[in-house]
Amino acid sequence: MEAKDPYTAEHENSVADLSVRVAAHLGVDPREQQTIRYAALLHDFGKIAVPAEILNKQGPLDDDEWAVMRRHTIVGAQLLARIPFFEAVHPLVRSAHEHWDGGGYPDGLAGTSIPLGARIILACDALHAMTTDRPYRRRRPLSDALRELQRCSGSQFDPAIVDVLVAEQT
Ligand SMILES: [Fe+2]
Ligand SMILES: [Fe+2]
Repeated sequence: MEAKDPYTAEHENSVADLSVRVAAHLGVDPREQQTIRYAALLHDFGKIAVPAEILNKQGPLDDDEWAVMRRHTIVGAQLLARIPFFEAVHPLVRSAHEHWDGGGYPDGLAGTSIPLGARIILACDALHAMTTDRPYRRRRPLSDALRELQRCSGSQFDPAIVDVLVAEQT
């Protein structure tokens, strides 16, 4: 993945560190924290199946490109599901783009039916993505990004996780 898209490797490490901090803050046990770390490190692993032209496209994706992009959750989970060591990890990878209000993908899960680790990764992923430069846009200041998380608290994000992130980052 790193060879194909250098952004992704740095992104995954940052999301993993932040996700574990949030999990610890929420009192998640160390074993589950480790599972969340692996899932965060591998959350975009399925992008290996997304063509580089789509991954690195300058500008917004069209509908067909989005459909390909959205497959990365399923592809990543399916590849990891073959490795017994990742038994607890692959469901988190699959659900890392589910939204609290049910508006996410691939299964449209809502609320606490989304695994906690996946809810944590979604919010940490968004925070890191917003505060990093991308080919198609500049990064936002941290205060702006936190405000955006709060704006989407209860729709995209688990409110309890947004509260922890705001408390951790300010
Ligand atoms: Fe992703
Ligand atoms: Fe991501």
